[in-house]
Amino acid sequence: MRKTTIVKDFKEIVNHPLFEEWFNITKPILASREFQKRKLIKHHDDSVFNHCVEVSFEAFKMAKKSKELDFYVCAIAGLLHDFYPEAWQYSESLEKLDESYRMRFLPNYKGSIANIHGFVHGRKAMENALKFYPELMNDKIANSISRHMFPLTPIPPKYKEGWIITLADKKVSFANMPSFVNWPKYLGLESLLMTIKK
Ligand SMILES: [Fe+2]
Ligand SMILES: [Fe+2]
Repeated sequence: MRKTTIVKDFKEIVNHPLFEEWFNITKPILASREFQKRKLIKHHDDSVFNHCVEVSFEAFKMAKKSKELDFYVCAIAGLLHDFYPEAWQYSESLEKLDESYRMRFLPNYKGSIANIHGFVHGRKAMENALKFYPELMNDKIANSISRHMFPLTPIPPKYKEGWIITLADKKVSFANMPSFVNWPKYLGLESLLMTIKK
């Protein structure tokens, strides 16, 4: 199992011919304090930061291959698609963050089926993105973020760019999670099992 780390080999991305263009779009988010905190929030066996960079760059590359797609939307929505406000997996690195980021692990946290990560984090990420980066957002980005978990969540993305985010997210997630045993974890169904066991 890989450890959550802030050190990731992004050599492939940094050396890619599209890197400069992608970086010029995403720089304000990547450099911001709030997004840097995602290095301390676990995403399966990686960090939210690393996962979001991979999805953003993958979506950007896909968009650049088509003249119809808005590559700015794909870069920003990809980067913020999992920008939910609180962690849903515990890791020691969370202790370095304010308590609000580890709400779920506090003794008074009451989880419910209606609050299962896989179903709600798209909407929460969209709301959080609007809170922290309103000047970078637009309707296409907001919709693409909030609906990225389709088909787990029933309403599909409204825009083509949203479909690209959904695809890029699954491509990156499954590439980093080769064993199907981990699929329920990816889909957020692990929290459903935990809720039922309570
Ligand atoms: Fe997600
Ligand atoms: Fe994701």
